[in-house]
Amino acid sequence: MKRSSPPPPSSGIVSRSGRFATTAAADVAAFSESISFDWRLWRQDIRGSCAHARMLCRIGILTARERDAIVRGLAQIGQEIERGKFTWKPELEDVHMNIEAELTQRVPAGAKLHTARSRNDQVALDVRLWVRDEIESLDAELATLQQALLGLAESNQKVLLPGYTHLQRGQPVTMAHHLLAYLEMVARDRERFADARQRANVCPLGSGALAGSTLPLDREFVARELGFVDGQGRARVTQNSMDAVSDRDFVIEFCAAAALLAVHLSRLAEDTILWATAEFGFIRIADAYTTGSSLMPQKKNPDVAELTRGKSGRVVGNLMALLTLLKGLPMTYNRDLQEDKERLFDTADTVRACVRLMAAMLQHTRVNGQVCGAAAADPLLLATDVADYLVRKGMPFRKAHHVVGALVGKAEALGQPLNTLSLDQFRAESELFEADVLAVFDLDAAMRRRELIGAPGTREVPRQLKRWKTLLGKPARRR
Ligand code: ARG
Repeated sequence: MKRSSPPPPSSGIVSRSGRFATTAAADVAAFSESISFDWRLWRQDIRGSCAHARMLCRIGILTARERDAIVRGLAQIGQEIERGKFTWKPELEDVHMNIEAELTQRVPAGAKLHTARSRNDQVALDVRLWVRDEIESLDAELATLQQALLGLAESNQKVLLPGYTHLQRGQPVTMAHHLLAYLEMVARDRERFADARQRANVCPLGSGALAGSTLPLDREFVARELGFVDGQGRARVTQNSMDAVSDRDFVIEFCAAAALLAVHLSRLAEDTILWATAEFGFIRIADAYTTGSSLMPQKKNPDVAELTRGKSGRVVGNLMALLTLLKGLPMTYNRDLQEDKERLFDTADTVRACVRLMAAMLQHTRVNGQVCGAAAADPLLLATDVADYLVRKGMPFRKAHHVVGALVGKAEALGQPLNTLSLDQFRAESELFEADVLAVFDLDAAMRRRELIGAPGTREVPRQLKRWKTLLGKPARRR
C-alpha cells in the first residue's frame, strides 16, 4: 500500500510500527489478540527477559546501568501484575508486547531489550518455562493423590471384596490391592510428566524469528540463567532455529500425559461411583464431597467423581485439538500456534482440579468393610481355587476348568452355593476330590495362598503397602 498520508497517531501496536500505513481493523485486533489468555505467561516472560537482558550486557549491547534499569523495571512491573495493579491493553496483542511496551515507557533502555529476539523464540521460551513450572507443581499434587490412595488402602488392608472382570465377580482381592492399582497408574503418570519435562527443558532463546541472529549472543548463558541444564549443570539449548520456533511437541507431550492421567482419574471415579451406589454399598463418600438433588430429597450424588469422569473428555479433546493444530503447518512459526495456549492452560487447570478434588474426596471416604466382606464371601469367587486343587492332584488345567464349570452349573441348577455341595456330588465330577476340598473355600486360607509378587496375598499386600510408604513418605489421611 502506498503511504500517501502520514501514519495515524501511534496505534500502540508495536508490531505494526513502520511498515503499515493503517492500524488493523478493529475486528482483526479483537480476533487476533491473545492477552486475554496469555497474560498467564507473565512470570515466565519477565524471567526470560531478565535473562536476555543480562546476556545482552555480557556481550556489550547493554551497559550495566541499562541492564539494571531493565531488570528493575521488569521486577516492578511483575509486582504490579501480582497485585492486580497492571492494566493489560488488548491493542498490544499479547503478554510480550504489553510488558515490553510498559517497560519502554518507564525505562528508555527497554527499547534495546528486543535485540536479537523475536516473539517467536520468546513465546516458545515462555511456554517451555510454563510447562516446566506446571509439571513441578502438578507432581506435588499427584503425590498427594497417591498418599490419599495409600491412606485409604492402609486403613482397609484386611477388607476383602470381589475383584471383577467384565464387571462380573471374578476372584477375591483386598481393598488395599484394588486401591494400590491406582497408585501404580499415578506413578506411571508422574514418570511420564517427568519425562515430558526433559524435552521441555531446552532453551529456544537465540533462535530469533526463525534463523537466529547476526549478533554474538551467548545462548548457553541464557540457558543456564533459566535453569535449562542437564544433570551435570550443562546448558541445554535447541540445535535448530527453525525447529525451535515452531516446535510445540512439549505442549503435546504434556497434554498427552495429562490425557492419560485424566483417563486414569476417570476410571477411579467410575469405581467410586459404582461403589457408592446402594447396589454395591462398598463406600460412603462424606457429605462435603457429594451434592443433593433439587427434587429428590433423599439423594446424595457423587458429583466430584462424576465431574472428574466427565472432564476427562475435554482433556482428551484438547490433545486432539493440539495434534490437529500442528498437522500441516509449514515451517516455521505460524500464527496458528497461538491457539496452543488455551488448550494447554485448560488441560493443566482441569487435571489439577480433578487430582486435587479426587484426593480430597478419597481422604473423606469410608469403606464399609462388612458389605465388602459379604460380597467377597461368595464361594464362586474361589471356583478357580477349586480348579487349582485338581491341578495340584495332577489334572490338566483345561480338564479341571471343565470339571469345576460342571460343578458350578450343578450348584446353580440346585439353587445352592457351590461350597454346600456334598463330597459325593463333587466326586461325581472327579474322583480326585477328597474330603479336604471344602477347605478350599476358607477365604483366609485362600488369601494366604496368593503370594506371588503383585498378587493380593496376605503377606504380599502389606509388603506392597510398605514399599509405597517408603516411596512416598507418610500417608496424609485426615481421618
Ligand atoms: N501471541 C503469539 C503466540 O502466542 C506470540 C508470537 C507472535 N509472533 C508473531 N510473529 N506474530 O503465538
